[in-house]
Amino acid sequence: LNVAFHTAWTNGEVWLAALRAAAPEIEFRHWPDVGDPATVDVALVWNPPRELFGGMSRLKLVQVLGAGVDALMRSEVLPAGVPIARLVDPVMSQRMAEYALYGALRFHRQFDRYEAQRQATVWQRHDHLDPPDVSVGVLGAGEIGMTAARLLQSNGYDVACWARSVRDPGPISVFAGREQLPAFLARSRVLVCLLPLTAETRGILGRETFAALPRGAFVINAARGEHVDVPALLEALDAGQLDGAMLDVFAPEPLAAESPLWRHPKVLVTPHVAGISHLATSVEYVVDQLRRFGSGEAVRNIVERERGY
Ligand SMILES: NC(=O)c1ccc[n+]([C@@H]2O[C@H](COP(=O)([O-])OP(=O)(O)OC[C@H]3O[C@@H](n4cnc5c(N)ncnc54)[C@H](OP(=O)(O)O)[C@@H]3O)[C@@H](O)[C@H]2O)c1
Repeated sequence: LNVAFHTAWTNGEVWLAALRAAAPEIEFRHWPDVGDPATVDVALVWNPPRELFGGMSRLKLVQVLGAGVDALMRSEVLPAGVPIARLVDPVMSQRMAEYALYGALRFHRQFDRYEAQRQATVWQRHDHLDPPDVSVGVLGAGEIGMTAARLLQSNGYDVACWARSVRDPGPISVFAGREQLPAFLARSRVLVCLLPLTAETRGILGRETFAALPRGAFVINAARGEHVDVPALLEALDAGQLDGAMLDVFAPEPLAAESPLWRHPKVLVTPHVAGISHLATSVEYVVDQLRRFGSGEAVRNIVERERGY
């Protein structure tokens, strides 16, 4: 099996070495040194440049080195008809879930207020609710959304998710589709966005959504910057409709120094750190995918191009 590897990450060589050590039977070629591109079977990529797929006439699979495929789906380099598989890393999902849990705790225990009070040396206690009285809504009930929902629920929060498709009732209620979005939002004191970025979800954290939340809600976005309508967010914060926001992702990144988000007293900015791929578990997953592919077994987590994730 010939695999062309490409990432713009600074530790690309470290990934490559780990892949080679884990699967000596697979030939990993570091793009652009792939020899004859017509002999490449699989492209293992993150944000590939336009010319990467040129001449790869035998290409049968693109394995992406990340959970989100929005950048690839939008790019002009996408090879037609070749299946695309995304990365599912349980360790990264867990880290993302911890980010959501931290946001919920920060809001409902009012640590954001205590941080502001510390600046002003104010000693003042505030009442806070218990987790079962704090309803958390997770937008997305996929690998990451469900991991976050389970972690929040195990910490006592009253959790529900929102997904695209209806599913059988389980321990976590899942609202589905646009029709059930208003009811889902109306119960979400804390709203966590863990959706993929698609034509349908772009700008979902906007005016209409904020207005449908209970007054004084808190918004956490760890999905993609383009999910947020920033002027609408600032407006909702300043009007008191939202009490706070914790944001990990921005469009574009890095967030510009002059962005009002940096200085807004109700906003916590983190530099896209909610969930970073974990080398060992990601390599294990990728090698398993490649071995499945090599032996003719079904590869997991294939992207449905029409729905965009
Ligand atoms: N900040 C970071 O560091 C970081 C790290 C990793 C990932 N991410 C982001 O997290 C996203 C989610 O990853 P994942 O692995 O959980 O994806 P996933 O397993 O594909 O799950 C996506 C979920 O979103 C739901 N969904 C998609 N479109 C929808 C729509 N139009 N309306 C309602 N629900 C919709 C899906 O509903 P169905 O269940 O009905 O299909 C599914 O539950 C990624 O795409 C990426 O952008 C961010």
